[in-house]
Amino acid sequence: MRIAVLTSGGDSAGMNPAVRAVVKAGITKGCEVYVIREGYEGLVRGNTAPPRPHRKVHRNLPAERLAHFGDDSLLKNLSFGDGPALREGAGDAEEDEQESGTLKGRHIVRVGWDDVRGWMGEGGTFIGSARSAAFRTPEGRLAAAHNLIKEGIDGLVVCGGDGSLTGADRLRAEWPDLVKQLLSSNQITQDQATTYAHLKISGLVGSIDNDMALTDMTIGAPTALHRICEAIDNINSTAASHSRAFVVEVMGRHCGWLALMAGVSAGADYVFIPEQPPKSQPWEEEMCEVIRRHREVGKRKTIVIVAEGAHDRDLNPIKADKVKDVLTEVLKLDTRVTTLGHTQRGGRPVAMDRILPTLQGIDAVNALLEATPDQPSYMIGIHENKILRIPLVDAVKQTQAVAAAIEARDFATAMSLRDPEFEQ
Ligand code: F6P
Repeated sequence: MRIAVLTSGGDSAGMNPAVRAVVKAGITKGCEVYVIREGYEGLVRGNTAPPRPHRKVHRNLPAERLAHFGDDSLLKNLSFGDGPALREGAGDAEEDEQESGTLKGRHIVRVGWDDVRGWMGEGGTFIGSARSAAFRTPEGRLAAAHNLIKEGIDGLVVCGGDGSLTGADRLRAEWPDLVKQLLSSNQITQDQATTYAHLKISGLVGSIDNDMALTDMTIGAPTALHRICEAIDNINSTAASHSRAFVVEVMGRHCGWLALMAGVSAGADYVFIPEQPPKSQPWEEEMCEVIRRHREVGKRKTIVIVAEGAHDRDLNPIKADKVKDVLTEVLKLDTRVTTLGHTQRGGRPVAMDRILPTLQGIDAVNALLEATPDQPSYMIGIHENKILRIPLVDAVKQTQAVAAAIEARDFATAMSLRDPEFEQ
């Protein structure tokens, strides 16, 4: 089997270990493994240039390992040091087209065992990620299907958030029709149409937001939480020194998991999350009452965490600056705002973001190898410490149901969809 792996959407720590696991598990199981650079954008663009001539391999590799490398191996195309091989060829697709990049015009690249050496502890995604507008169009998905068939790939692992996995599921659902279109326009042969009648897909949830339903943890969320925790630990000492208040804005898009867990793990006086806005409307007095109480019992510092998607019960955004103004004007606290931004997303994965993608990456490959045409595509999740396969459609549907409940201001449902054991 020929399998390919891509990372899509916002990067997250743990994507490199996920790609590494897919590559190594695939090779171990006898597959040819490819990486697709720049996410779906690379899949739509495909390969427009021939593989580069071989470079000298600087190291003596055991023959059985070398046997895995195709003409297109990154190892042969890029320099081969101890560090991550792809790094030297990295750059976005635009740059590749403009400059004489090492992988000019090539987005779908065969990889070998050593191409992913050293990737376990590295942040971001070396194979690049993008939010592709082209893949959202029917023409884009047709080009993507054509490129997969041209490269002889019949199994795809997508590592990304809910949008990326929805895209994967859509590609799979449309696949028979895309194959028909390619055949009728003579872009593929009848033999190819028969051989590639089904596309097998496995989804790995790579997102710092931990916003995917039916799985306990997404790849990247533990690292982002750790970053937030460290940042608030740092803020705590300066806040206490000056008896100040800090409003800390954290990421998470429409999901409050990072904010809530940061509140527990780093300690916060008040937390704003999208799924459970403050009960009173307006919310200002409710927050001030809590903080006033904490100050009265002798707290020298105040930490308020605001999820970036926070809002009140009428869905009016609650922003960090507004919270600061309230703390300053009503409680007369000397207040600062810290927006953690992309520091939450970058950097080395914590241990959990190495273990989880490794176990899940291996199962993603197993799921492709075991897939039958009548089965759904699976998302590889984790529940109560067990790696599980969950039908991708179900996970996507429930994730969208949370957003719909928030939109309908049905916060009890939003919370119980996120956590069935949550009590109002
Ligand atoms: O989905 C991951 C995430 O980091 C969100 O938490 C945040 O809202 C968004 O991506 C930021 O996106 P960008 O990096 O495109 O600004």
